[in-house]
Amino acid sequence: MIQPQLERAYPADADALLQVQRAAFAGHYRRYRDKDNPYLQNQDSLLRRMTFPQGAYYKLTAGDELAGGLFLYQRAFASFWLAVLYIHPRFQGRGWGRFALRQAMEAHPWAAEWGLNCPTDLPANQACYQACGFTDTGLRERINPRLELMVYHRYCFRFLREEALEDSRVRLRLAAALDPRPETCGVPCYRFDILPAGAQGPVLGRCALRVGWNEAVRLAGHVDLFLDAPEPDLYRLVLALLGELAYLHRMEDLSILAAPGRPALLQALAALGADCQEILPGGARYILPLEG
Ligand SMILES: CC(C)(COP(=O)(O)OP(=O)(O)OC[C@H]1O[C@@H](n2cnc3c(N)ncnc32)[C@H](O)[C@@H]1OP(=O)(O)O)[C@@H](O)C(=O)NCCC(=O)NCCS
Repeated sequence: MIQPQLERAYPADADALLQVQRAAFAGHYRRYRDKDNPYLQNQDSLLRRMTFPQGAYYKLTAGDELAGGLFLYQRAFASFWLAVLYIHPRFQGRGWGRFALRQAMEAHPWAAEWGLNCPTDLPANQACYQACGFTDTGLRERINPRLELMVYHRYCFRFLREEALEDSRVRLRLAAALDPRPETCGVPCYRFDILPAGAQGPVLGRCALRVGWNEAVRLAGHVDLFLDAPEPDLYRLVLALLGELAYLHRMEDLSILAAPGRPALLQALAALGADCQEILPGGARYILPLEG
């Protein structure tokens, strides 16, 4: 049997994809009559998706035939949303929907989470998403009297435990690796004790790195960092080590909230070239860009 193949789609594919999308969603539109149904999408809006900088449009081909399409985009640095997935009715039920979704997720190995929504009354769709590791969040959105959407979520974050976070002066000893919960701002979080390099103690302070981005992280920052004896150089070294770990998680920058009255931390941020972005109730928010 012919094997499907998932590859990036380009504007030249827009016409053909639009036809497949309409065929795939015609039944849904008859059933739900929702105004945002992909059946109603026009070529302009499909082209906008294809050229959306934080997005990726894929086509599923089977030999010379176009079998389906998929569009995803990045909502926050490691958080992706599956905006649409469709398989032409001729090819449905062969496992190709699952294949396309798995391939698209594999193309984004740094993703920490995936989300999508789906009508609550389509068991085939739900079976497809569950087979790809998605679970029901329990969130529901009523679109109209005929259509209710449910939100599915797939969490795929991996803590990196093997990395030794140490330089010539300071060592970060892992104290906890916490899955998302309210006190971690809803994202995964590392907590470390700060020690002199190569030594067992004494503990010089504590720090935490939140890996992810949402409004709660914006308000709290990615980093908590406290030294018993504040010293700009030591703050700088710890921030550099946390930055290395963040970079391994494909983070592009660190957001750090510096409360007033922490001059040693402010000096370290200045030495590292951090930019003050905004003043929040808890202090000033600094952005520290991360590079290799
Ligand atoms: C949803 C869609 C993308 C899934 O793609 P697909 O290639 O048909 O799906 P797959 O073959 O990979 O998986 C379908 C699963 O649903 C199961 N299934 C089919 N009909 C079912 C039903 N009535 N009840 C329960 N499960 C059902 C299949 O058996 C299969 O699971 P299994 O292999 O574990 O048995 C495709 O059907 C489609 O394009 N539908 C129209 C557009 C759409 O709904 N897009 C998604 C919007 S949320």
